[in-house]
Amino acid sequence: MCGIAGYIGEINNPKEVLLKILKNLEYRGYDSAGVAYVQNSNVVYKKSVGELKNLVKLLKSEKAKKGGLGIGHTRWATHGKPSVKNAHPHNVGNVFIVHNGIIENYKEIQDFLEKKGYKFKTDTDTEKVAGLFDYFLKQTKDPFEAFKNTLKMLKGAYAIVAFTKEGDKIFASKLSSPLVLGVGEGEYFLASDALALSDFTKRVVYLQDGDILQIDKLGYKIDHINGNISDRKIENLNELMSKAEKEGFDSYMLKEIYEQPQSIQTSTAGRISKDLKPILGGLTEVEPELKSAKEIHFIAAGTSYNAALAVKHLFDELGLPVFVKLASEAKYDNEKIRENTVAFFISQSGETADTISALERYKKEGALTLGVVNTVASTIARETHAGVYNHAGPEISVASTKAFTSQLSVLFLIYSLFKKLKSTLSDKDKLLLKELLQIPKKLEDTLPSIDKQSLKVAQKIFKKKSMFTLARGELYPIAKEAALKIKEISYIHAEAYPAGELKHGPIALIEKGFPTLYFVGNNLYEKTISNIQEVKARDAQVFSVCFDNMKEIIKISDNIIKIPKLKTATSLIFYASALQLIAYHSAKLKKLNVDKPRNLAKSVTVE
Ligand code: AGP
Ligand code: GLU
Repeated sequence: MCGIAGYIGEINNPKEVLLKILKNLEYRGYDSAGVAYVQNSNVVYKKSVGELKNLVKLLKSEKAKKGGLGIGHTRWATHGKPSVKNAHPHNVGNVFIVHNGIIENYKEIQDFLEKKGYKFKTDTDTEKVAGLFDYFLKQTKDPFEAFKNTLKMLKGAYAIVAFTKEGDKIFASKLSSPLVLGVGEGEYFLASDALALSDFTKRVVYLQDGDILQIDKLGYKIDHINGNISDRKIENLNELMSKAEKEGFDSYMLKEIYEQPQSIQTSTAGRISKDLKPILGGLTEVEPELKSAKEIHFIAAGTSYNAALAVKHLFDELGLPVFVKLASEAKYDNEKIRENTVAFFISQSGETADTISALERYKKEGALTLGVVNTVASTIARETHAGVYNHAGPEISVASTKAFTSQLSVLFLIYSLFKKLKSTLSDKDKLLLKELLQIPKKLEDTLPSIDKQSLKVAQKIFKKKSMFTLARGELYPIAKEAALKIKEISYIHAEAYPAGELKHGPIALIEKGFPTLYFVGNNLYEKTISNIQEVKARDAQVFSVCFDNMKEIIKISDNIIKIPKLKTATSLIFYASALQLIAYHSAKLKKLNVDKPRNLAKSVTVE
């Protein structure tokens, strides 16, 4: 994972630039942070464990001076515990390096270098790359050649930024991990994503796999590992890339939950015609392929995967085979990707390594690849053949909330487009779009009461160690999303089960006071009631999210969260808000950092 930063120039001071870029990249990891920068031949090299604020404190006494160069890193550990020793930058001999990714052959490199007399101090894969660069530097004396030789020996995934003790050039390269060059007036910046650079420049170059970049104060050149000179164009950062602030909420998560009426509105704005038909400009040019699609695949991770699962029921109505795959599995399964497969890659960040890898496979095997992505100009948005942006605005909290409901909204529109292209929109299909248009207002009106009722449920579960989240049919993915969110931020072990499946084994866990959280809809209503009775008979605590007219459920549940009755799949959005608020309040009551749960990062950029 990790966020990496770089700066070279005379205009700004490296310390401040690096810290600012790292702040913008902290969503990528916060196990440790570090910088190394050179001013007047003097290297300042500091690292600390935990969030970036610790590094900021450590650097307080360092005077900020204009001009120089440097690199910075915020880590999500893959190799070696989070510690000062393992924090980046790594220094071996004359080389300082930061790295995002995994070097799979680091052991081989280590063995090779140890034979040459190198000794290593850390548990990371990255340090061995620093060693290799230093080794080649000694062989060739030409740092660019040495860097290139280093890269040629690496297997795995990386974005690397480095400098040598001479301190007059920065070297960078990438393979499967993102890296963006920001071009200023007489100064240059590097970051793992373009948005992180927007405080300094709006002109960026997206480096491609195999590009080797060298920057000095006069300019930059990009070569390619295979020997060709690369010509990469400078692109302008889109206006849509706005920054996010907490705006009075105690956390980004709560702010983003409350933003959903607005984000759903922007996700659907201009995308539903007056006569209730979908308009998706991003897919216009691929409409013939959508029409002739023989299979639909959805590939995503985590919450984005749950969004795909949640709309499978709806897409099944198209009469085509619909597959929903976890991105981390989709690249490696044995299933043939058949002709006329349309594959959707759903991702908030657009940078999830598992999803990108699966995308590469699908592209190679001839599928039409389409993105449902929130982050403008991210890797998935750029690498898919076409796609639809979520337009939910930046999501900062690690727990995905507004991105989920905007994914649902966009997927409803995509379903409608398929329906329109393949046959005609039925009255029920039109009702789906009609209700979707009503969601922002309805959600705005009901969020405060869902919030209050969710708090009451959270008060009863936050001290528990374990619980079930349960639902039947099309609501089961909502139970899965509830379990993910509750585990992720409140550290309660929540397990999702189809409510009817509990009696086949897991019910053995039920004892007095064991919490069960049900999501109840009209479909399989009576059967769900029976399932609730089964756990009640064994003294479980029962919490239900249900429509306000479901008297029976209200009667048999210890607590309920009432949501407005809608006739179509749009009600998924209300169930989602309830589960988000239950997880939020449970974490808050446990006094946890809801925005930055332990061991996690917003964007998972390693496989
Ligand atoms: C959700 O709360 C998670 N933090 C996580 O599961 C996330 O949805 C997943 O990593 C996928 O991310 P993406 O949507 O950016 O690809
Ligand atoms: N593998 C490196 C480390 O563990 C980089 C990790 C990453 O990019 O997530 O330090």
